[in-house]
Amino acid sequence: MYNIAIDGPAGAGKSTIAKEVSKRLGFIYVDTGAMYRAMALSCLRAGVDVTDEAAVTATTDKADVKIAYKDGSQIVLLNGEDVSTEIRKEEVGKNTSKIAVYGKVREKLTVLQKELAATNDVVMDGRDIGTSVLPNADLKIYLTASVETRAKRRYDELVAKGENPDIKVIEEDIVARDYNDSHREISPLTQAEDAILVDSSNMTIEEVVTTIIDYTKK
Ligand code: C5P
Repeated sequence: MYNIAIDGPAGAGKSTIAKEVSKRLGFIYVDTGAMYRAMALSCLRAGVDVTDEAAVTATTDKADVKIAYKDGSQIVLLNGEDVSTEIRKEEVGKNTSKIAVYGKVREKLTVLQKELAATNDVVMDGRDIGTSVLPNADLKIYLTASVETRAKRRYDELVAKGENPDIKVIEEDIVARDYNDSHREISPLTQAEDAILVDSSNMTIEEVVTTIIDYTKK
């Protein structure tokens, strides 16, 4: 199996890039953030206080999160229900980095992610793929971009959806999420020693995609 790990902070473009790279290589794409989001959704639906580790652990322990593929795209199932759209809501995103700090939650999803990579050629994106989930990945990319660039991309996305966002609020959210992700005790967001750093601030999607594909040939 050929495994590509793509890690990096929120809004660096990981999912766009990972999707396109997987398509061109004929690999499956595994969006691990979507799995954490589904776990957060299960807690929100159950009315669980996300700062209560025992309650979150009990809820996520019962939650059945699965990745499936529909018309060539990845969908996320929570107890059999397709929650792919619902997990993209801001409220879910905000709470995800809070529940992602708990060991039991990470353990459960990591097992699932390792299984997928052991049986498929994958492009897997997340925060701890190169460092913790797939330490022996064939290629590790650490994809980043400046806070301003990431905020602007998110802003443009929301405007395209007809929303009227405040760029300052988006920036603050990104900084808070980066902080949570890189300061947690278990599997914090960090560049693996053997990962290749790609800063996409001044690169087009096509440039990033071809850069990564070129590395698979080296
Ligand atoms: O990538 P995405 O923004 O969808 O991820 C949502 C959140 O899930 C991240 O902010 C992070 O807290 C958590 N996450 C994680 N480990 C991963 C993927 C995502 O902790 N491998």
